[in-house]
Amino acid sequence: MASVPSLASSVEQRVSDALASALPEAGAADPLLRRSDRADFQANGILALAKKAKANPRELATTVVEAIPTGDLIKEIEVSGPGFLNITVSDEAIIKTLSARAADDRLGVPLSPSAGTTVIDYAQPNVAKEMHVGHLRSAVIGAAMVEILEFTGEKVVRRHHIGDWGTQFGMLIQYLLEHPHELDHKDGEGEASGEEAMSNLNRLYKASRALFDSDEEFKTRARARVVDLQAGDEETLALWQRFVDESKIYFYSVFNKLDMDIQDPDVVGESGYNDMLAETCKLLEDSGVAVRSNGALCVFFDEYKGPDGNPTPLIVQKSDGGFGYAATDLSAIRDRVGNLKADTLIYVVDARQGLHFKMVFETARRAGWLNEDVKAVQLAFGTVLGKDGKPFKTREGETVRLVDLLDEAVERAASVVREKAQDLTEEEIAERGAQVGIGAVKYADLSTSASRDYKFDLDQMVSLTGDTSVYLQYAYARIQSILRKAGEARPAAHPELELAASERGLGLHLDAFGELVAEAAAEYAPHKLAAYLYQLASLYTAFYAECPVLKADTPEQVENRLFLCELTARTLNKGMALLGIRTPEKL
Ligand code: ARG
Repeated sequence: MASVPSLASSVEQRVSDALASALPEAGAADPLLRRSDRADFQANGILALAKKAKANPRELATTVVEAIPTGDLIKEIEVSGPGFLNITVSDEAIIKTLSARAADDRLGVPLSPSAGTTVIDYAQPNVAKEMHVGHLRSAVIGAAMVEILEFTGEKVVRRHHIGDWGTQFGMLIQYLLEHPHELDHKDGEGEASGEEAMSNLNRLYKASRALFDSDEEFKTRARARVVDLQAGDEETLALWQRFVDESKIYFYSVFNKLDMDIQDPDVVGESGYNDMLAETCKLLEDSGVAVRSNGALCVFFDEYKGPDGNPTPLIVQKSDGGFGYAATDLSAIRDRVGNLKADTLIYVVDARQGLHFKMVFETARRAGWLNEDVKAVQLAFGTVLGKDGKPFKTREGETVRLVDLLDEAVERAASVVREKAQDLTEEEIAERGAQVGIGAVKYADLSTSASRDYKFDLDQMVSLTGDTSVYLQYAYARIQSILRKAGEARPAAHPELELAASERGLGLHLDAFGELVAEAAAEYAPHKLAAYLYQLASLYTAFYAECPVLKADTPEQVENRLFLCELTARTLNKGMALLGIRTPEKL
């Protein structure tokens, strides 16, 4: 459903109509219209159609061209090569179309005709553990997908599948039981800060680990504690809850720093599926999808083999009766499809968990929990590398703490902002620094295709030139400053004006926003939106260099250029918002 048709769709309509009259048997054939560098658009579909109809492609193309009226919409159309159509639209049509788009709150972005319910699993850190760059990727990519999908009309249910269950809690809980004040905050009042919460958890984790490794008796008590936890012993559960709560304080502080809105009801961790695990296993075993092998309940696949040639099974229940990661994910699928009525499941998870998800999805298909009406995809992301091209680690070889990275990004950004700032107060510099720094980190992540690894390079990320969010934010702020300086002059579309080359380039790119967002949504490819926005800012820069705005020749031209400026700003602002990035009015 295109609320405001784009130039592309209007042109496509004209070409299809002409095709249908020239070649009635082709029916509603697709002329394969593309935006092109040679002309504004190119239609490549005639070749195949002519071949099918055993007609001469150039002749067919010529007949089609003759059937297309030129004037209002299409200025020029010509046959090129073996039977392509090169199409140039009129300046008038560009401005008229953009003007209709400007009147639309959705900036011409169509609602998806096939919208359904997507459950998206993203931003899933682990309880009592520090967040690292992998968690950053999941959170940033997932949040962008949520916004993009919702904007196209999809109903989106968020699920933060935090790691809040497992045998490690036996050790932690036992330690806390024996050292009851270890999680108390220093001042004893109010809530701990995120940092304080994490440093408490870290200290406790290290201390309990050390004891577990050195003291056999503690180890035995810790193992018994796992059994109590699984049996639902009240005191044990209460202590476990303290770890979860303390961790959430920390998670929320990091999400807050990331300028991300994570809601408590959407945090459904691994433990949220505990009640379903036994049933999940029983259903798998009864249906024969899973079989006992050396006491463990396993699902086998012909195609997945270990290095020794033996099949690698998915283990849903261990031989000691314990349920693992797979049983939880299978139960979550039953919940998401059965109760939440999802027709799409997205998992924004590290590519290194690819095999796990392949096996889980396949198992769920065999069990009938996923059928042909339900799509399940892992939106797999690559590894974050250091400047040296190796997985990102501290000099000591430890995982880099996400908070440290974010703080550093904000600090660097603040100094960039300060250097360029003309009329900003210290308070504004701090606020913009956060928006620029966090934007830089998010954009660097979103501007490469998720599946690829990327280098975490702060110098590059906060650079004012090149494909960075700062560049886009400055383009936006520059437009806002022009609009402020415009005084009496208001943006207004003037379709009667002839356009300069850079105005046409900018206008045609603005026209593509709707299809681009639809594409990013359909392909789960936020990097396509980032690339679009970068190109938009670049075309704006070219326009700005060629075309004086406030000092244009006539008042109509001033208004028309202000109109292009304003629509560019709105498109940048909307596009960046879909990526989770702020566009400050002033920089
Ligand atoms: N907590 C996991 C990790 O840190 C990611 C969870 C992914 N989601 C899922 N449904 N398994 O690696």
